[in-house]
Amino acid sequence: MKFFIDTANLNEIKEANDLGILDGVTTNPSLMAKEGIAGEESILQHYKTICDIVDGPVSAEVIATDYEGIIKEGEVLASLHPNIVVKVPMILEGIKAIKYFSSKGIKTNCTLIFSPGQAILAAKAGATYISPFLGRLDDISSDGLSLIQQIRHIYDNYTFDTEILAASVRHTMHIVHCAEIGADVMTGPLKAIKGLANHPLTDKGLEQFLSDYKKLNQ
Ligand code: E4P
Repeated sequence: MKFFIDTANLNEIKEANDLGILDGVTTNPSLMAKEGIAGEESILQHYKTICDIVDGPVSAEVIATDYEGIIKEGEVLASLHPNIVVKVPMILEGIKAIKYFSSKGIKTNCTLIFSPGQAILAAKAGATYISPFLGRLDDISSDGLSLIQQIRHIYDNYTFDTEILAASVRHTMHIVHCAEIGADVMTGPLKAIKGLANHPLTDKGLEQFLSDYKKLNQ
C-alpha cells in the first residue's frame, strides 16, 4: 500500500519524506487555508514547492464546479509539474471533466467519494484515483472501512485501473485496516503515519538491550 501524507504543511511533508516511506501528497482547499496559502500565485507556487520536496503524485484540488471551469483550472494545475494530480469533486460536471482529463493523459483524483455508486462512476470516467473519505463516514456513525471493502470488491470484478486512495484516515488502525482490505493507497496525517512505529514492548525491549550492553561495555 502506498503512503501519501494529507497536508499542505511543508515541515510535515519534509519530515514524512525524510522517513523514506512517503509515496505522495494530497491537499485540499481546507488544508491550504490552514497553512494560510491564498491567492492564485501563492497557491500554484506552494504546489510547485511540494513537488520539489516529494518525488511522487501531488493532488491539487480545483475550486471550480462547472465543466469549463474545472478544465481550465485543471490544465493550469497539470502544467505546473508532471507529478500533479488534478483533484476533482464527485459531481456530474466533475465526472465529465475527469473523462476529458483522462483522454488527455492528465491524472485525476476524484474526491469526496461516500458511496460505491460514486466510485463506479468515477472509475468509468477514467479517474486515476478515487478518494473515499472513511473518517468522515465514521464521524456520522456510518462505516468507512466497509465502503473501502465494497469498492475493492467491485473494482476487482472488472478491469478498472482506478486506484482506491483511502482518505480521511484519522489514526494508525485505519491504516492497518486499509492495508488488510487492499486499498491501493492511504492518505493520512503525519501523526498516524509515525504512530505505526509505536509499541511499548519495543521501547521496553530496547531499553533492556541498551542497559545489558552498558553493563559490560562502559
Ligand atoms: C482527502 O484527500 C482529503 O484531503 C482528506 O483526507 C480529508 O480528511 P478529513 O476528513 O480529515 O478532513
